[in-house]
Amino acid sequence: DAAEKAGYDHYMLKEIHEQPTALRQAIAGRIDPIEGDVDLGDLSLSEAFLSDIDEVQFVACGTSYHACMYGKQLVEHLADVRATVEFASEYSVGSGRDPERTLVVGVSQSGETADTLRALRVAKRSGIRTLGVTNTVGSTMARECDDVVYIRAGPEIGVAATKTFASQVVILALFAVTVADERGELDPTAGRELLEHLQNLPGAVQGALDRDDAVEEVADAFADGDAFFFIGRRFGNPVALEGALKLKEISYDHAEGFPAGELKHGPLALVTEDTPVLALLTAGTRPDETRNNIKEVQSRGAPVVAFTAPDDDGDYEVGFDVPDLGLIEPLVANVYLQLFAYHVADDKGRSIDRPRNLAKSVTVE
Ligand code: G6P
Repeated sequence: DAAEKAGYDHYMLKEIHEQPTALRQAIAGRIDPIEGDVDLGDLSLSEAFLSDIDEVQFVACGTSYHACMYGKQLVEHLADVRATVEFASEYSVGSGRDPERTLVVGVSQSGETADTLRALRVAKRSGIRTLGVTNTVGSTMARECDDVVYIRAGPEIGVAATKTFASQVVILALFAVTVADERGELDPTAGRELLEHLQNLPGAVQGALDRDDAVEEVADAFADGDAFFFIGRRFGNPVALEGALKLKEISYDHAEGFPAGELKHGPLALVTEDTPVLALLTAGTRPDETRNNIKEVQSRGAPVVAFTAPDDDGDYEVGFDVPDLGLIEPLVANVYLQLFAYHVADDKGRSIDRPRNLAKSVTVE
């Protein structure tokens, strides 16, 4: 067991630290930086089909759902096509859809989550093409979908998903570029920039991992908070939700994530000096608008841990820099949030790799 954890106290910490490698594997051979091309392998999704679709529907659960929220925004941003995300357990084809012009993308680390498989079967029965994005070769999802793309993150043992989140988003980014390109919508500069950022992501994630000691200090200082709030707009929103999910899964603390603008519509009532607020202020998260929300929580005494561009001179209790990676900067902030959750849970002596009541793969609906 100790050998398998490679010197780390928990699989979760090991897997957080495996992200640079996992990300390199995810993009290996899939990006041609010179041409600005993406090659996701032998997919049956033809140019004719992709240029004609009027909707991409993402379905997933848990952490994979948050990756889909990110993917939806990337698809809409790059490919000029409507994209929606639904919890797999709530999925129905919905009214007004033309099955021939709809693509359903299921995302699942395990490829065995019952709710996600059900949603994909519902889509398929209605004549909708399905694409599976999974970590698990030969999984039910891989076998049942019309097409499959593997995220190649390597085995993930900790119940709370970590490294697979970033890898899923990276694959969805490559998918968004593919769809945009086939539809003739790809802005070459935006496409090339995103691909360059994806190639620089593993190094940037390593930079965050190298600051683990600093994150641990912050976690030690705030571990006794009454509750934890995570705020982020746009591409920061899925990461705010994921940060809160990670913390609640393994520390059992109350944590909530929401778009920063929603703070004033309810959650602000819960903010006190004992509720740390973790805020995404990187590129892709409309930081200027979020600064007002930060003032609102600070004026109620809440300490703010901010993830910002290096030249951000805002006044935060704690700040972590994220290097220039455009729309995927929140993925680097997410690594800090994973480490934060880990250290808070570790301070409390929680069963980090096997949290109570949770399972790695939920095979019942
Ligand atoms: C379980 C796990 C989560 C995971 C979710 C979806 O609830 O505890 O960590 O995000 O299932 O799993 P999947 O394998 O479909 O990505």
